[in-house]
Amino acid sequence: MGRTVYVNGAYLPENQAHVSIFDRGFLMADGVYEVTSVLDGKLVDFDGHVARLARSLSELDIENPLTADELLDIHRELVRLNDVVDGGVYLQITRGAPGDRDFVFPDPEETKPTVVLFTQSKPGLADSPVAKTGIKVISIDDIRWGRRDIKTVQLLYPSMGKMMAKKAGCDDAWMVEDGHVTEGTSNNAYIVKGGKIITRNLSTDILHGITRAAVLAFAREAQMVVEERPFTIQEAQDADEAFITSASMFVMPVVEVDGAAVGTGTPGPVAARLREIYLEESRKAAI
Ligand code: PDD
Repeated sequence: MGRTVYVNGAYLPENQAHVSIFDRGFLMADGVYEVTSVLDGKLVDFDGHVARLARSLSELDIENPLTADELLDIHRELVRLNDVVDGGVYLQITRGAPGDRDFVFPDPEETKPTVVLFTQSKPGLADSPVAKTGIKVISIDDIRWGRRDIKTVQLLYPSMGKMMAKKAGCDDAWMVEDGHVTEGTSNNAYIVKGGKIITRNLSTDILHGITRAAVLAFAREAQMVVEERPFTIQEAQDADEAFITSASMFVMPVVEVDGAAVGTGTPGPVAARLREIYLEESRKAAI
């Protein structure tokens, strides 16, 4: 049985949902997205995702077609209709389908944004066995555009990066620019050295992860020391621990970087503790 998805105001079976071939998301990657995780049938960090969505749209001059309350209703309805217990809701908003291809933005009075949402069911998402063994990453050059703080649907390079990692027998790639790690292909990157959590500072170089914000707040509350600055691959290889964060992976230990074991080569206590705190607090605060 297929899913029920949302397209421009309608809840439809997935095989009956369509968008135009002239949609600017399809032709020009002219759109933004969010992924909100679902635990126990509830939305995690929803307010953060909606706030970042509004910012991404505003940076691209795309009209925000729905209020936060309307978005919450749609998310909840899709979770309900699809019986999602654990998993996520994917949301995409594009500049719409003007009826032809043109580099010039269409008149927003005539062309309304396209809104698509669908669910992904992932039973046992929070109990992933991978969290017990950790993941391996390779480093690749970061050749993405300069506005990585906007969550656009231009995911070709991250997708290629994931394939390069797979080919190398690894799980993911950390992107490097000017000698320093920016972020993972679909997550933020961290190392732990001497008890200190180090992660790149916010700028247009990286996506401002919603999970990152929550995890750093929890770390500080737990009296852990956080240093927001760029770090190198060499530092990661010499670190005691490494990990990533994202809405779909929560806090995930990294045990190998470019073939070198990080610390003991097994998930470390800081990542494990942060994962535990994040999951516990997220479940409590989920809506
Ligand atoms: N990716 N950096 C990049 C490049 C990302 O694509 C993501 C999220 C993150 C982490 O952000 P957050 O904590 O808000 O999920 C960082 C999502 C999960 C995806 O593309 O599926």
